[in-house]
Amino acid sequence: MCGIVGYIGHRRALPLLLNGLKRLEYRGYDSAGIAIPHEGKLHIVKRAGTVAQLEALLSLTDFPATIGIGHTRWATHGEPIDRNAHPHVDSSGRIAIVHNGIIENYATLKAKLQQDGYTFHSDTDTEVLAVFIGALYEQYGNLELAVRTALSEVQGTFGLVVLSADHPDLLIAARRGSPIVIGIGENEYIVASDATAIVEYTRSVFYLTDDEMAILTRSGCRTKTIDDVPTSAQLLELEFDLERIEKGGFPHFMLKEIYEQPQTFRDAHRGRLLVQEGNVKLGGLRSVEKQLRQARRLILTGCGTSWHAALVGEYWIEELARIPVEVEYASELRYRNPVLYPDDIVIAISQSGETADTLAAVREAKLRGATVLGIVNVVGSSIARETHAGVYIHAGPEIGVASTKAFTSQLAVLMLLALYLGRMRHLSATQAQEIAAEMLRIPEKIRSILERSELIRDIACQYAHAQHFLYLGRGVNFPVALEGALKMKEISYIHAEGYPAAEMKHGPIALIDENMPVVVIVPRDELYEKVLSNVEEIRARRGKVIAIATEGDTEIEALANHVIPIPETLPLLTPILTVIPLQLLAYHAAVERGCNVDMPRNLAKSVTVE
Ligand code: M6R
Repeated sequence: MCGIVGYIGHRRALPLLLNGLKRLEYRGYDSAGIAIPHEGKLHIVKRAGTVAQLEALLSLTDFPATIGIGHTRWATHGEPIDRNAHPHVDSSGRIAIVHNGIIENYATLKAKLQQDGYTFHSDTDTEVLAVFIGALYEQYGNLELAVRTALSEVQGTFGLVVLSADHPDLLIAARRGSPIVIGIGENEYIVASDATAIVEYTRSVFYLTDDEMAILTRSGCRTKTIDDVPTSAQLLELEFDLERIEKGGFPHFMLKEIYEQPQTFRDAHRGRLLVQEGNVKLGGLRSVEKQLRQARRLILTGCGTSWHAALVGEYWIEELARIPVEVEYASELRYRNPVLYPDDIVIAISQSGETADTLAAVREAKLRGATVLGIVNVVGSSIARETHAGVYIHAGPEIGVASTKAFTSQLAVLMLLALYLGRMRHLSATQAQEIAAEMLRIPEKIRSILERSELIRDIACQYAHAQHFLYLGRGVNFPVALEGALKMKEISYIHAEGYPAAEMKHGPIALIDENMPVVVIVPRDELYEKVLSNVEEIRARRGKVIAIATEGDTEIEALANHVIPIPETLPLLTPILTVIPLQLLAYHAAVERGCNVDMPRNLAKSVTVE
C-alpha cells in the first residue's frame, strides 16, 4: 500500500526516484510526487495521477541533487487530489516526508498543533506528522531527535522517509507496521517500501524492524530503535533478478504471471517432493515437527486470494491427514476473541507477507500460545519473520494486483503440507506417491490450458458487457468458484458471485435469466452428476453456461453453451487446473472492457492498513 523510495549517494536522484516509483506503482497509483533539494531549498513536485504523469510534469526540470524522496499513493486519509499527494512538508517547507501507513492519533496531534498556530493544507494524516516533526525540529534544532520524539508520540503505523533542506547529506527512515527495506550500494543507499525498487542497483539489503529507524548519510548508516537504543542490521541478498519484475513482452504483468505458472508451480515443490519415497521434505518446518505431529487442529487464515487458497487447503488436509481444519478470514480472527489452545497450529497464508490483518492475526495467535506458521511469498517480509516457522512459496515477485501465480504456488505448498501431515499419520506411501507423481505432471497440464487462451478470449469477449457473473463449484472446487468471481470483479468491475453449486437453488437461482453467464466448474469427479443437474437447472432458466470440464467430456458439451476443457488429473488436484481458465477469463474480459488490468481502480497490491 503506497510506494516509497528514497535515495542518498552519488547518482542523480531524480531519474532513480522516478524509476523506483514506476517499479512500485503497483502498490498504489492515485497520485505521485518527489522532493529534492536544489539551491538550498526543497522542491516538491506532486500530482494526482500516475507516475508517468508526474514524469511528464518533471520533463523540463533538471535537478542535479544526489538525494531525494518519492512516493506513489493509495489514498487512506483524503481523496486522491494534488494537495493530498506526498511528499508532505512541515510549516517551514524545509522538511519533507513520504509515508505509508496510518497515523491514528492525527486528529489530536493536529488540534494541538493548530492551537500552537500551525496551519494545514491537505486532508492527510501524513501532513500532521510532517508539521509535528518540523515543530519539534524548531524546538531541538536536531532532526534525528525531532523524528524520534515525534514517532514515539505517534499511534498507528508508518513506513517513512524524512528529508530536510538543512541536511542535504542525511535521510532518516523508520518503520512500524509498514515495510521499509534499505539497499546498500557503494557509498549509496536506496530506501524503499519493497525490494523491486532496489534490485537493479544492489542485491544487498536489510529490512527495518518495527520501531526501528535508520540514519543514512553518504558515508555510512546507523540503526537504532526510536527509543535511541542502537541496533544491528541483518544483511540479506535479494534472490530475484530484474527480469522477474519486467513485463518481458507481455502487455500486462497479470498475463505474464498467469503464463509463469508452469514454472512457478514447479518452483514451489522443487526439492521438496520425494516421489519415490512417497513423502515430502519441508526444511522450514523441521523446528516445529513435534508440534505438527501432536496437533489436534489447524486454523488457516489469510485474506482475499490467500483465504481462497486456505479453503482448498482445508479440503486437502482434512482428506489426507484427517486433522480438523478451520479457515478464518484474518480480519475476523484478529478481533473475535478466538479460542486457541497451545496444541493448535495457526497457519497464515500471504503473498506479500505484509497484509495488516493477517499480520495482526499472527500476533494475536502467538499471544494466545498457538504455534504460528507462515506460507509466504516475499522473503524477509513481516509475516515470514514473525511466525515461528514456515514455508516460502518461491513464486518470485508478483506485480499484478490480481493475484494469480501466488495462488497456484500457495496450493502447491498446501498440498505438500497435506502430504507431510498425512504421512505423519495414516496416509500410505502408495497414496502419497500417486499424488506426488501427478504433481510433477501438473506444469505440463497448466501449459496446455494456457494454449487455449484464444478460446477463452472469444468467450470472455461475448460476455464482457454482462452486468453479473455467477460462479459455481463443488467440494474442492468451491473455493475456485470464489477465486474466479474475485478475479472477475477486481479487474473487470463486473459484479460476480461464487457459490457452492448446490446452494444455487437456495437463492441465487432467482438471478438466472438469459442475460446471466454462469461459470460452472464441473470436472469428472464424484460430484460430477450432481453438478450436471445444476447445469440443467440453469439451462431451464435460459442462463448461459460456461463449463470448465474435463477434456473429452461429451455429456457437458451437449448441455453447456461453452466448454473450456482442462486435462484429466486426480480429483483432489483439479483446483490447480480449473483456476487457470478463470484467471484468463477475467483477464480477457477486463481487456475487452478497456480496464487497466494491472492497476484496477481503488485497489493496491499489498494491503498494509486495516
Ligand atoms: O499479500 P496477501 O496474499 O496477504 O494479500 C491478500 C489479499 O489482499 C489479496 O489476495 C487480494 O485479494 C488480491 N488482490 C486478490 O487478487
